[in-house]
Amino acid sequence: MTATSYKNGLLQMENVPLQRIAQKHGTPVYCYSTRQLADNFHAYQTALSDIMPEDKFTICYACKANSNQAILHLLGMLGAGADVVSGGEMYRAFKAGVTHDKMVFSGVGKTADEIVKAVRNDILQINVESEPELNLVSTLAAKESSAKAHIALRVNPDVDANTHEKITTGRSGNKFGIDIKAAPALYRRARDMAGLAPTGVAVHIGSQLMDLAPFAEAFKRVAELVNELRQQGNIITTVDLGGGLGVPYRGETPPDIKKYAGLIRDIILPLNVHVILEPGRSIAADAGVLLTRVRYIKESGDKRFLIVDAGMNDLARPALYDAYHAIMPCGEPAKGAVMTAYDVVGPVCETSDTFRTGAELPRIDPDALLAIMTAGAYGASMASNYNTRPLPAEVLVSDEQFDLIRPAQKIEDIAAADVIPDWLA
Ligand code: LLP
Repeated sequence: MTATSYKNGLLQMENVPLQRIAQKHGTPVYCYSTRQLADNFHAYQTALSDIMPEDKFTICYACKANSNQAILHLLGMLGAGADVVSGGEMYRAFKAGVTHDKMVFSGVGKTADEIVKAVRNDILQINVESEPELNLVSTLAAKESSAKAHIALRVNPDVDANTHEKITTGRSGNKFGIDIKAAPALYRRARDMAGLAPTGVAVHIGSQLMDLAPFAEAFKRVAELVNELRQQGNIITTVDLGGGLGVPYRGETPPDIKKYAGLIRDIILPLNVHVILEPGRSIAADAGVLLTRVRYIKESGDKRFLIVDAGMNDLARPALYDAYHAIMPCGEPAKGAVMTAYDVVGPVCETSDTFRTGAELPRIDPDALLAIMTAGAYGASMASNYNTRPLPAEVLVSDEQFDLIRPAQKIEDIAAADVIPDWLA
């Protein structure tokens, strides 16, 4: 049972009618369900504990999906680690209580500063994405610490993830990872480099995968590589299998988590390694909605626009990836209500600020409250100040209670950061 559904004529998250949150905190506002976040995390935990002992795996939640500290803290309490891709995410994850031994650091453009922080904090693993980065990590780690930094090379297995081209990462020609064919030579070098313990192999082929076959293909290539590396004398103790499963945005059937774990059991467990997973979307997406109020209903030719108060700056996915998000009125439509086609658009001055063209909705009243669904992942974390619009508020719901976990930004705070140089004055 999903955490957001109609009860007593109102769309509720757990036991809170979403109307109440909008009344108290205004709109646009992101709302997240504690229960759904926990259920999603437990699904991974259970699927993995069914196939291996708990100390043989770490689920490092991909903070980029939603990096609010309340969410990192909640997941941390449940046993999650963190996959971070910037000094900022590392800072937030530490502040939220994630421990160093459960943190992995990924990303193609790590700065020296960020690498030093990772080394000083002795994190579980740095996933290195290029030879120049390997050299830099070695130099910095040798200088910083007597202990060696545990690193994995993130390999690019050249597998088509069959997902949106903008979120595919494991094809040759993508900027990510090290060509899997070049990896053995680089591991041979890394073994003798100062400051490094090259003990891991990492892979990530893309996000929103709705099919298990590309995972299987990538895992097989990784397993072959681990065997080859061991034959050449490398000590490989961890395998990081990257991001998690895709989620249904419009009623599709998501891949089965038990079957996914079955792939890990069949392909990876024979290697006898510590397994790291970095799921993001499948933990946070369906736990969140973006609440938005209709500002104007505008008729133009044969078009009917619902102009809402959330924009592409709040939720960029439709504009960036033509992503589909279901839109539900917060008051339950009457049974058999006649549907009307609306274009649901935001206030931002771009035609791409469109949440949906031709959404079939019951008659919507001015001022109606709408929920843009499955917005918990890559929603708030990708929000921007475009059009000098403040970042939206975020609220966490648990049973009958709800609290702000981030207030809406103030326009004054955005403006206060600008500096007019003296020579212009
Ligand atoms: N690990 C690495 C190295 C990644 O690059 C990603 C996502 C993940 C883990 C988490 O993958 P997930 O479990 O969420 O599929 N903004 C896009 C998604 C970008 C994903 C980037 N990398 C969107 O809104 O669809």
